[in-house]
Amino acid sequence: MDTLIFISLFILILHVKAQANTNTNSCSPINCANNSDLNIQFPFRLQEFQPQHCGLPGFELNCKQNSTIVNFPPYGDLVIKSISYDLKKLDLLDPKNCVHEVFLNLNLSYTPFSYYYILKEYQYLNCSAQLSASFLQVPCLSSFAHHVYVVETSFVLPDFCSHVKTVGIPFSYSPFLSDNTFGLGLTWHLQNAQDSIATKFTTSVQQEAGQFKGLSDIANDKALACIILFIFIVVMLLSIKKLSHSTKRVEVEKVRENQKELHAAILGDYEALMPKREFMANAKVLMLNDLI
Ligand SMILES: *[C@@H]1O[C@H](CO)[C@@H](O)[C@H](O)[C@H]1NC(C)=O
Ligand SMILES: *[C@@H]1O[C@H](CO)[C@@H](O)[C@H](O)[C@H]1NC(C)=O
Ligand SMILES: *[C@@H]1O[C@H](CO)[C@@H](O)[C@H](O)[C@H]1NC(C)=O
Ligand SMILES: *[C@@H]1O[C@H](CO)[C@@H](O)[C@H](O)[C@H]1NC(C)=O
Repeated sequence: MDTLIFISLFILILHVKAQANTNTNSCSPINCANNSDLNIQFPFRLQEFQPQHCGLPGFELNCKQNSTIVNFPPYGDLVIKSISYDLKKLDLLDPKNCVHEVFLNLNLSYTPFSYYYILKEYQYLNCSAQLSASFLQVPCLSSFAHHVYVVETSFVLPDFCSHVKTVGIPFSYSPFLSDNTFGLGLTWHLQNAQDSIATKFTTSVQQEAGQFKGLSDIANDKALACIILFIFIVVMLLSIKKLSHSTKRVEVEKVRENQKELHAAILGDYEALMPKREFMANAKVLMLNDLI
């Protein structure tokens, strides 16, 4: 029976090793467009092409028409222009080309990201008339009937303006900075443990990838879980059987011992019998148990 356990364990180890070997390269950097120099690698991963262990939670990317997309729920999609793994900097493009609309609505609280540039609090105003010419409305948020401004928090609102939101953003509106070449830069943060994984990955992506594959697949593989469960059950059954055997033997021996002492007591003097009464009771109970 013990050999069965050893054989099962051996199969298990072989299985894990085989898995680790077959998928060694699945974490190598890839990109969405064929000739792109935007390579996706740890901590990011392309959801359709790289298995889960290649990236960290919150760093999942997708391909859409040769573009690399990051999705921030509930805000939506943003296009990735470039990633600097050294600077931990992610440059994004807004498909709607309205960076102050992104600043207004994108909430990075529950993501591993924050703005790369230093933030300052600004208030967004929605005005039914235009402010003086020294203020520039955000064209992509405004229409002929309403005018949206991004102003200092100290600004006192005129009657015809309503306060939309005060948010920390990298910069106020400027016609020169409103385009996508500047502004939508994010940086990312890893917890310490994740950071050390990241270091390992960047030093030797290929080699580490294999190991991580092996480890994470132990958890993922359902067949493997079944084998482990099977071994566990076998071991449990074996030990239960052994246990019941040995306890029976012990009980039988106890009864015999008690009977011997009983005999001795009856043959000996009467006083010696008195404290041995419980032995008789014990013996009866044990014999009853044995019969049952
Ligand atoms: C990428 O290029 C290779 C050859 O350079 C080609 O075989 C492959 O089909 C291309 N893939 C896409 C998605 O265009
Ligand atoms: C993606 O890029 C390939 C060449 O790199 C091009 O032939 C194809 O039209 C592009 N697709 C889209 C949707 O832009
Ligand atoms: C982002 O969401 C969190 C949690 O809902 C909230 O506390 C925070 O104020 C939001 N930030 C902005 C800028 O709206
Ligand atoms: C500003 O107000 C107009 C009219 O009430 C509304 O349609 C628009 O969505 C508002 N814009 C913002 C950014 O709140």
